[in-house]
Amino acid sequence: MNIGESIAKKRKALGMTQKDLAGRLHVSFQAVSKWEQNVSCPETTLLPAIAELLGTSVDSLLGYRSPILTDYEARYQNGEYYWGFEPNRFCYEIMRRKPPVKPLKVLDIGCGEGKDAVFLARNGYQVTAFDLTDSGLEKGRILAEKCHTYVDFFKADLKDFHPTQDYDIIFSSGVFHFIPPELRSEILESLQTHTKENGLHTINVFVEKAFVKEGPGKDKDRYRWKSGELFTHYSNWLIHKMDEEIFDCNSGGIPHKHCMDSMIAEKKPLP
Ligand SMILES: C[S@@+](CC[C@H](N)C(=O)[O-])C[C@H]1O[C@@H](n2cnc3c(N)ncnc32)[C@H](O)[C@@H]1O
Repeated sequence: MNIGESIAKKRKALGMTQKDLAGRLHVSFQAVSKWEQNVSCPETTLLPAIAELLGTSVDSLLGYRSPILTDYEARYQNGEYYWGFEPNRFCYEIMRRKPPVKPLKVLDIGCGEGKDAVFLARNGYQVTAFDLTDSGLEKGRILAEKCHTYVDFFKADLKDFHPTQDYDIIFSSGVFHFIPPELRSEILESLQTHTKENGLHTINVFVEKAFVKEGPGKDKDRYRWKSGELFTHYSNWLIHKMDEEIFDCNSGGIPHKHCMDSMIAEKKPLP
């Protein structure tokens, strides 16, 4: 799909007219019409604003699909739930440490097909969850509906996600190795700032160990963390749990191992 078709498709899906979009971008509706007919292209400087208004990314407008996106979209387009329905054990830790005796807001980052987000919502949390994949999010919505619960699922890229509200609990499993090292401090600081006092972060990351042989062909756009690195970003928080474990994995049909650091940390008020 070219950029004009992309704009037209997303604009129509949002129920916007060409005039609406043009007005928001301060351009003429004829300009929008020309983009959509591929007679001309929008100025490069307008692309971020167009993407934001249409609820998408510049990459997606330009038809770029990252290998990660393609990989997970392919896994999730199958009718089965790739990750199953068993909640992550962190979910039980969350329930034990912060039971939903009052409305508690949870953010699930890189929620995949939504099994953990839906589990937490069913148990009384107000859950917001995002992922890069449309197919994962769609399956999450279906699962929530089947379970008679609601999760605010939306599409976003963790690398340029800016929280607009504060959360009681931020949860992420198997996702942070997609953050390049140079973006880690900024992203974690932003998530920490948007966490309420006494709020929790429950996060795990894949780490590199010289003696652990990873599976083949999975290095592109994945950046394993240094052992212990995650914890160094939480020196002012109360660390309830930090663990490192090595486990077997058979994804892709080739037996291999992973090393993972897991952490539960609580934001404490500063004096
Ligand atoms: C290993 S799966 C984990 C899914 C889910 N957390 C679970 O445990 O079932 C990694 C997920 O991260 C998502 N992901 C990868 N890069 C991302 C990014 N930059 N922003 C948001 N999600 C991303 C993928 O689409 C995928 O669903």
